[in-house]
Amino acid sequence: MPAIALIGAQWGDEGKGKATDLLGSSVTHVVRYQGGNNAGHTVVTPDGQKYALHLIPSGILTPNCTPVIANGVVVDPHVLVDEMQGLAERGVDVNRIKLSADAHLIMPYHIAIDKVSERYLGKAKIGTTGRGIGPCYQDKIARIGVRVQDLLDPSILTQKVESALELKNQILTKIYNRKALDPQQVVDETLEVGAQLQPLIADTRLLLNEAHERGEWILLEGSQGTLLDVDHGTYPYVTSSSPTSGGAAAGSGLGPRAIERSIGILKAYTTRVGSGPFPTELFDDKGEYLRKQGGEVGVTTGRDRRCGWFDAVIARYAARVNSLTDFFLTKLDVLSSLETVPICVAYEVDGKRLDEMPMTQTDFHHAKPVYEEMPGWFEDITHCRTFDELPENAQRYVRRLEELSGARISAIGVGPGREENVLVHELV
Ligand code: IMP
Repeated sequence: MPAIALIGAQWGDEGKGKATDLLGSSVTHVVRYQGGNNAGHTVVTPDGQKYALHLIPSGILTPNCTPVIANGVVVDPHVLVDEMQGLAERGVDVNRIKLSADAHLIMPYHIAIDKVSERYLGKAKIGTTGRGIGPCYQDKIARIGVRVQDLLDPSILTQKVESALELKNQILTKIYNRKALDPQQVVDETLEVGAQLQPLIADTRLLLNEAHERGEWILLEGSQGTLLDVDHGTYPYVTSSSPTSGGAAAGSGLGPRAIERSIGILKAYTTRVGSGPFPTELFDDKGEYLRKQGGEVGVTTGRDRRCGWFDAVIARYAARVNSLTDFFLTKLDVLSSLETVPICVAYEVDGKRLDEMPMTQTDFHHAKPVYEEMPGWFEDITHCRTFDELPENAQRYVRRLEELSGARISAIGVGPGREENVLVHELV
């Protein structure tokens, strides 16, 4: 059976939690393969309970499903333990979680440096979530990171923390004028919280490959989105990992050929949190309308999301770099009651029309959207369960997005509830 990757096709916050949850009952494993607690997934269970998950895969809410935090994730052990406790208090069995021995740990100095370095950048700041994600990945690449398996060997952990802090403390005190961290205290606190994680530690690469060989269905749950990918996104205004389908292989240890289906999660309009270019961004009452109607406030940071019209150039780009087989279009209901709904079909840069992503960030910064206006609809669509039940203009809008976006639209979210979807083609 194939592994299925669910990938954010825009700048994150596309509604991946809902799609993961929808597929979760058909799969045996739900895997986080990159990012950390910079992500935020909201899932509503059949009994109407709402859960905001940051680090633990959404599969935790599906009985008989194994949630896996794989090697590509960066894990703040305190956040993981807190999130587990919160779920356990609500009766969720958290002992099913498998945590890769190779995942990297976010240490207190990563969080301290993330926050101060953003302040230091001033106007040029990235607008990170301040969770230590970037500094942790920096240490991973610099080969001085601390991994989950180091929790099993206190002497190695001590050596690594001491040597990392020799440099980090210089940076914190001499460049940023902050207090130095005490290595022993960092080690003690890490081991204390780590003791609660020890039973979860596993060789997740082997576990996933064996499940795949047995013919089980595996769901690879991306966080953030294609345009936040460190290679394929709007660098430097990106996250430090690879949310794209290539990253799903590297971050889980499943080979690329195991991933037969890649589903892009695509909001019916566009949002972005943090800094960076966003051609279709709206600064008027229409932007405010999308923010209010769509509840566009970050699950993790509580920041207002920037809002704009649908951008088909980005959707096409996402379809290509992820080899998308399908799209799950979310939040179509948010657009109900607009006179017209514009779609960005191309850009204009220095007087020239560009149908695909510009090669340089400079051009992307200057890109002006070329819009096509679609007639809107006023009906409430939350009760629609088949494509034919959608108002004619909503159908036209979806069909046009599909023509422009490079993969078929297989599911459509028409409301926040887990049942509020239109299934056009089977996803599993
Ligand atoms: P970092 O991932 O905290 O380093 O933040 C880097 C950029 O990615 C910032 O613009 C964040 O706002 C953005 N970002 C990180 N995680 C998410 C997410 O889950 N949704 C949307 N944007 C995100």
